[in-house]
Amino acid sequence: AATKTFDIASIPADGVGHEVVAAGREVLEAIATNSGGQFGFEWRDFDWGSEYYARTGRMMPEDGLEQLKDLDAIFFGAVGWPTVPDHVSLWGLRIAICQGFDQWANIRPVSMLPNVQSPIVGAHERDLDWIVVRENSEGEYSGFGGRNFSGREGLGEVSTQSAVFTEVGCERIFRFAFDLARTRPGKKVSKVTKSNAQQYGMVLWDEVFDRVAQDYPDIETESVLVDAMAAKFVLRPEDLDVVVASNLHADILSDLGSAMSGSLGLAASANLNPDRRFPSMFEPVHGSAPDIAGQGIANPVGQFGSAALMLEHFGLDVEAKSLQVAIDRTCEQGILTRDVGGTASTHDVTQAVIDNLG
Ligand code: NAI
Ligand code: MG
Repeated sequence: AATKTFDIASIPADGVGHEVVAAGREVLEAIATNSGGQFGFEWRDFDWGSEYYARTGRMMPEDGLEQLKDLDAIFFGAVGWPTVPDHVSLWGLRIAICQGFDQWANIRPVSMLPNVQSPIVGAHERDLDWIVVRENSEGEYSGFGGRNFSGREGLGEVSTQSAVFTEVGCERIFRFAFDLARTRPGKKVSKVTKSNAQQYGMVLWDEVFDRVAQDYPDIETESVLVDAMAAKFVLRPEDLDVVVASNLHADILSDLGSAMSGSLGLAASANLNPDRRFPSMFEPVHGSAPDIAGQGIANPVGQFGSAALMLEHFGLDVEAKSLQVAIDRTCEQGILTRDVGGTASTHDVTQAVIDNLG
């Protein structure tokens, strides 16, 4: 059979990004080898990030998106380092890619792994498994706003930061959430809002949701204010299946979700351009973790989960599933990094997952 080759941009960027991307590539290479030549990966290395910034004054080259646009996917680590202001590094690389490639759907699954202690009482007996769908192109992170009156006597500086909600943007993320819910056993979409306090953008958001919901009579819905949803995550997570939220709300809630699963190092995410006009980007939820970078102890599981989402995106559902099973088995065997109570290194976990691929 002909080999299908996936051309993938590898962008470790900063800190533990280097360690976990290398680990993720090893696992993906093992999966390709196990496929007996049915598919393979061609890696394109990009050294963009905070060191690149120190050399060039930019997080990526001016034609960076041009260099990526014909590839099949982007395998990303984490960006940010104390030498560069966080808003510069984030906007200069990660958000530039998300916006430039219209990766409007960010998905962040939350699940409980064997042997990993969750801060939620009885987490493993409660069948917890939900997925946060984040609107990833507009909302509070649209970049609309400005600063003025700096140094002007008497007033002090003034800034505005506006949230943007478009009908098209709302509709496409809700349809995505409903379509996803149809593939899951729970068949439920919880929409997060704050329309009691934000009477323009969030009211449009609510109205579009109600309209889209009419096309999915088979899916249960609920509307929950973001503050109440934060409480619900902790108190009644078994009630959650697909949770759809704006850019800011989902950013916060998904970190809460990953903390509930036991560590930020476990959480995976995909930034999808569902129209497939541009490459999608797969990355762990965590940042560059400067406190543990370079020590070989970073948890690679979030990166592995992101690799599984990438395999799914390529239609390799069986391989994605077997990677998830290998992660589960590795945890069952107690091969865990320090953040989840073990003593294993990044390398130990990587090797165990490869051995468990079966
Ligand atoms: P962080 O996620 O890097 O670290 C938070 C805590 O989680 C730290 O104690 C860290 O050691 C731990 N942690 C994170 N990933 C881990 C892993 N794989 N294994 C074990 N422990 C892990 O968040 P923080 O400290 O707020 O940000 C550090 C830098 O990362 C900043 O420059 C920030 O802007 C950037 N950042 C980048 C993100 C991205 O590229 N998507 C997301 C979040 C932060
Ligand atoms: Mg975040």
